[in-house]
Amino acid sequence: MTAPSPAPHKMSARDVSVFYGDNHAVRGVSIDIDMDKVTAFIGPSGCGKSTFLRTFNRMNDTIASARVTGEITLDGEDIYSPNMDVVQLRARVGMVFQKPNPFPKSIFENVAYGPRIHGLASSKTDLEGIVERSLKRAGLWEEVKDRLSDSGTALSGGQQQRLCIARAIAVDPEVILMDEPASALDPIATAKIEELIHELRGRYAIVIVTHNMQQAARVSQRTAFFHLGHLVEYGETDNLFTAPREERTKDYITGRYG
Ligand SMILES: Nc1ncnc2c1ncn2[C@@H]1O[C@H](COP(=O)(O)OP(=O)(O)OP(=O)(O)O)[C@@H](O)[C@H]1O
Ligand SMILES: [Mg+2]
Repeated sequence: MTAPSPAPHKMSARDVSVFYGDNHAVRGVSIDIDMDKVTAFIGPSGCGKSTFLRTFNRMNDTIASARVTGEITLDGEDIYSPNMDVVQLRARVGMVFQKPNPFPKSIFENVAYGPRIHGLASSKTDLEGIVERSLKRAGLWEEVKDRLSDSGTALSGGQQQRLCIARAIAVDPEVILMDEPASALDPIATAKIEELIHELRGRYAIVIVTHNMQQAARVSQRTAFFHLGHLVEYGETDNLFTAPREERTKDYITGRYG
């Protein structure tokens, strides 16, 4: 009899490196990402957090000088395999950026666009339902339900960011990658995004890059500390902040550098 296999991870990176020309920006990183958890990536500026995050939905493909080695899987499937449909991949592994980037279209269209191109709605009513559900889940519905035809760019920064989250949710992703999603927002809008991350956690695997260690401690269950392209330490957020195993982690969280 064979032993039962361990619970599968939603995504796994194995020995992943990223090069920009000669610059070896991410150095042999292995990590597992799981459903129902928020994983935070922290570390000093330039340590490779954004670069590594982008390997999870092949956003580095859009950067001509970038080259990725190693393996990344989604439900056990190699996402860099030639069989992988990248458009499909980016719907399954959605992304929210530092600067809110709504399309210059109506609030409704911002959310409806993805489900429409992916053929997720069978009718107009169905599409309207998806838009409403996504905006509700992103905590924006009450603020915009009477102005769905207004431009997405006319919203406040915090509202725009929640619109971008609604847009990511609308195509029914499994993983949501967030690169400093609140760093351009004021404290109230930031608190809303953090609250939202809490609520979304039960449905998705969420990975968030943040410069703010308090934020990492508030929103995540797991934290990965990066330094000079290396993953130095990865563990339960509480442990990493209270009892780091590595000297470099300790130096960083106590503010000695970064
Ligand atoms: N598009 C790019 N082209 C070339 N080099 C890049 C590019 N993006 C990042 N790099 C380089 O890769 C390294 C890691 O950068 P990255 O943006 O991933 O760091 P980061 O940890 O996200 O930093 P920050 O906290 O400032 O956002 C740096 O040396 C950076 O100069
Ligand atoms: Mg970055």
